[in-house]
Amino acid sequence: MNSSSIPGKPLNSIVEACPPSGIRRFFDIARQMEGVIALGVGEPDFVTPDVVRIAGIKAISDGLTGYTSNSGLLELRTAICNYLERAYGVQYSPDHECLITVGVSEGLDLALRVLVNPGDEIIVPSPCYVAYLPGIEFVGGVPVTVETAAETGFAIDPEAVERAITPRTKALLIASPANPTGAVQPAHVLQQLVNLAVKHDLYIISDEIYERLCYDSSTLCLGALEGARNRTVILNGFSKSHAMTGWRVGYCCGPEHIIALMTRIHQYTMLCAPHLSQVAATVAMNEADSAVQLMISDYRARRSVFVTGLNDLGLECKMPGGAFYAFPSIRSSGLSSQDFAEKLLFEEKVAVVPGDVFGPGGEGHIRCSYAASVASLKEALERLQGFLQRYRASGNSSL
Ligand SMILES: Cc1ncc(COP(=O)(O)O)c(C=O)c1O
Repeated sequence: MNSSSIPGKPLNSIVEACPPSGIRRFFDIARQMEGVIALGVGEPDFVTPDVVRIAGIKAISDGLTGYTSNSGLLELRTAICNYLERAYGVQYSPDHECLITVGVSEGLDLALRVLVNPGDEIIVPSPCYVAYLPGIEFVGGVPVTVETAAETGFAIDPEAVERAITPRTKALLIASPANPTGAVQPAHVLQQLVNLAVKHDLYIISDEIYERLCYDSSTLCLGALEGARNRTVILNGFSKSHAMTGWRVGYCCGPEHIIALMTRIHQYTMLCAPHLSQVAATVAMNEADSAVQLMISDYRARRSVFVTGLNDLGLECKMPGGAFYAFPSIRSSGLSSQDFAEKLLFEEKVAVVPGDVFGPGGEGHIRCSYAASVASLKEALERLQGFLQRYRASGNSSL
């Protein structure tokens, strides 16, 4: 072996077996093309509200450029716990039950690392956010998906969840509102899931990143449900609600012992979330509600234009209750979701994500993010119409 060759010893087999994210693939192709309407990436098209950006600039000017405590700024943890109590009546101690993370992504990883032993099964309603199944596998867990269906608005069926429970089941991983479907689970369904967790002694990881982006009804914090508090880790952050994806700040709340163990990993691997992002997030929590409300009403209007337009084109889609995704059926086109997304990108320059990348139940759908201007959404609908007409004319579809 010459000194510059790569060592022959195998790398981590779990990581090597994991395919790259199907979202990024389309994103990378779309970025290199001109005139693309980007409905692919799940990111607000707004910039972070002024008051928050100004706080970030001031934090730099004030020299707040060092580490914070591992748990994160106490002011931020206090603001978060106050919000959860105000909004949902659930109490968490800022000192012991709240940890500031580098986005919900880190919170998810920490929760899985603390809750899962190799071989443990984690039940995940599917289709689901692309990071869930690899995240479980990275820690040696076994994801067990329970399919949800478009016909029921991707409602989780607690009976199907119970059927999936085995002696190896350790936790449920749920999100409401969900990515990629935008589905908001009714409170009674969430309570039934909590009851199952109590009955079978399971933990719950509740990804609440889209909690504020609910359009028809309000959602809830799972920790507020009866029986949930002591077995649930809630994950939330600022990326979506406050258009702060690039600031990389999120939070977890849960029972003291679990948060302490999550903090232990975090203190060795991450040390702390970026200091100036935490300062900005404190302002986001305390002073940006009106800006958030404006974004929510814009998303609501866009949802209506876009989802109505999809249905008019024969791409069936129930009105999603939250987040900023539509997940229409494309079965009537006769194309697989990969083919549909690829042809739509190359032929019409509209970037969407094929549904199969979101796990079982995703095939036959595409995910469209409607976090785009109404003008772009209307243009995308027109391009979709041309696309579908061509396939209809070529006899490829049953439209
Ligand atoms: C359901 C869900 N959870 C977590 C994340 C990651 O969020 P963050 O930017 O806070 O890491 C995303 C991002 O798309 C998401 O859709």
